[in-house]
Amino acid sequence: MEKKRRPLLAANWKMYKTLSEMEKYLSSFLGLVAGIDDRDIMLAPNYTCLNRMVELLNGSNVKAAAQNMFYQDEGAFTGEVSPGMLLDIGIDIVIIGHSERRHIFHEDDELINKKISSAISHGMTPVFCIGETLDEREAGETSHVLENQIRLGLKGLKNIDIHKIVIAYEPVWAIGTGKTASLEQIQEAHRLVRDRVRELAGEDIAENLRILYGGSVKPANVKDIMSLDDVDGALVGGASLEPESFARIVRFEDN
Ligand code: 13P
Repeated sequence: MEKKRRPLLAANWKMYKTLSEMEKYLSSFLGLVAGIDDRDIMLAPNYTCLNRMVELLNGSNVKAAAQNMFYQDEGAFTGEVSPGMLLDIGIDIVIIGHSERRHIFHEDDELINKKISSAISHGMTPVFCIGETLDEREAGETSHVLENQIRLGLKGLKNIDIHKIVIAYEPVWAIGTGKTASLEQIQEAHRLVRDRVRELAGEDIAENLRILYGGSVKPANVKDIMSLDDVDGALVGGASLEPESFARIVRFEDN
């Protein structure tokens, strides 16, 4: 399937896998995806796995990413990790504003905006997550919620900065629930995201922007989801935890 933009298949392992489980995963996964060079493949493990993962991925077609970071360079921020600390071990992609950060850890749009700006000023690629809750969707507020998250999350950024961002649309009600959004819902939301970015940053940036879908992506639905015009990749939780399953997703294999 020919895509306009280079696809990005990203695994978000959340709070799963120890160091030895990560190593075991890679010993199988790297072989399963070896030679794939027409798409980007990314794994985001927990912090304790990152350093070793970077070493193990060296020379492969897979990149490691962080699931979160703080926006300050250093200081008295117990429990936090800075952009410089990630860069120091070779990480330059970071997920920002995941719905679990927003809902469980109460991150708001203002904090997320600071993290995105900080990532960009450090030359990193933020994977900026947005998405509506079930209540918001049922109340007909989806467009309003997504527009607000985009406007506030990207506030103060220049066009050149927006150029470096990847956006992940993850409807909260589809995360970890087994309920995937319908293809119509996904395409509609992704179109809206691209239209808003076009208004903010112009045609070129909107056309080049990669928008990932996340929420119960699995081998059985990835091919259909990836066939949508405005879907440029996937951010995968549960189905990325087994190497065979994520390798099939990377290949858009539905059987
Ligand atoms: P699931 O694929 O488990 O629904 O998780 C999606 C997600 O939150 C990825 O960031």
